Amino acid sequence: MDIVCSPEELSIFEIAGRVADEMNISCYLIGGFVRDKLLGRATKDADIVCTGDGIALAHAIADQFKPKPHVSFFKNFGTAHFRLNEFDLEFVGARKESYRAESRKPDVEPGTIEDDQLRRDFTINALAISLNKDTFGKLTDPFNGLADLENKIIRTPLDPDVTFSDDPLRMMRCIRFATQLDFVILPETFDSIKRNCERIKIISQERITDELNKIMSSRKPSIGLDLLFISGLLKHFFPQFTDLSGVEIIEGKGHKDNFYHTLQVIDNTAAKSDNLWLRWAALLHDIAKPATKKYEEGHGWTFHGHEVVGERMTPKIFKQLKLPLNDRMKYVAKLVSLHLRPISLTKEDITDSAMRRLLFDAGDDLDDLIILCESDITSKNKFKVKRYLENFEMVKERLAIVEENDRIRNWQPPISGDDIMKLFNLQPSREVGVLKTTIREAILDGIIPSTYDAAYELLLKKAAELNLQPINK
Ligand code: CTP
Repeated sequence: MDIVCSPEELSIFEIAGRVADEMNISCYLIGGFVRDKLLGRATKDADIVCTGDGIALAHAIADQFKPKPHVSFFKNFGTAHFRLNEFDLEFVGARKESYRAESRKPDVEPGTIEDDQLRRDFTINALAISLNKDTFGKLTDPFNGLADLENKIIRTPLDPDVTFSDDPLRMMRCIRFATQLDFVILPETFDSIKRNCERIKIISQERITDELNKIMSSRKPSIGLDLLFISGLLKHFFPQFTDLSGVEIIEGKGHKDNFYHTLQVIDNTAAKSDNLWLRWAALLHDIAKPATKKYEEGHGWTFHGHEVVGERMTPKIFKQLKLPLNDRMKYVAKLVSLHLRPISLTKEDITDSAMRRLLFDAGDDLDDLIILCESDITSKNKFKVKRYLENFEMVKERLAIVEENDRIRNWQPPISGDDIMKLFNLQPSREVGVLKTTIREAILDGIIPSTYDAAYELLLKKAAELNLQPINK
């Protein structure tokens, strides 16, 4: 395995080595930069560790550049950082650490490079490359991290119980690296996660979710989600998700395991789109199945209304996981609520108005909804999947034709809620909603044309039924 650096990176590293020589200290590249370079993965930030004062080294190196980059530092942690063009450089003095049981904050004292490597999370993240002139480019690899990189293995440098107990976030990182890099976690290391999973509760939800989102953004998120489940970590911060697992059988009839079905839907979605929030919609599309599950005699298992309950659960889950409570959450909730609609259009005798209504409800998110629905077709029976997908192609074609003719996706009815409130001098109320819906539905059903006059005439009729009079009459 070789490291290929750009001329700019090489020149920065040579300068760093020269400055460290002048300060009479050793300095090394370490961590994710070394790992990713050896794997041939793109990386734009480098960690530099030195046997001395990391903040002083960062300043002395930054002094070599004009204009001098701004160095930010944390005296308490002994870390410093500056940026050169697109390149992030992070500095720290080598240290020995011991953690206290109730916190992630370590007691720190200066140490050798070996001490520093020993306190790192995984052997593949503990490889160090010397930058000092005499040893420039020499690899220090006390735990055979290079062999683990070659064999695609994740293991801790110390007894895993110590490494994970020192910083339980590392259990999430372990599974995240296994997913991102497609590596195998050493069984002893994974067993330790199972033993220590409860310790995840001392980690902030933001950090856990950060790792979860990295897993969700990977090529095949199911790898990490399944490991989170099997290790026992998932139930500590996302029990609604683990509740999906399992199969119940009554009168010989079972339903599918909705946890593994969901993992398949997420992978299918991930194969078609990098959109993290669409992947979240895939994760949550069946989240209300346990809450709505019923066995109906003679009929089998039903999950009536799971899309509506799932839509309502979405904001609560976003809050619990500290995901953004903004338009992204609304987008996910909307896709969860609509996820059965396109499939319901594969039945025979579907009218254009049903197509129009879906175009209107989905709006600009229709293409994403279609990806979600296609991904949701996961039967083990290949012929069934093929037939469903073919029917679905026909729905897509019909949706395209209706949209071409009627332009529904960004359409707004000719009379808005505001217009209605002004016309009848109403405050926002149920009546306004009823009148608005009456107009919209009549147009979508093709009962009246989409013109102001036709909508106004219907509005007056419906308002009279509600004993409402327009104010200018
Ligand atoms: N590290 C650690 N324990 C942690 C976090 C980080 O031991 N909980 C060490 C590892 O040696 C890691 C290095 O600090 O390689 C840098 O951490 P970070 O930048 O968070 O991760 P990277 O390994 O660089 O990977 P990525 O950028 O993909 O997160």
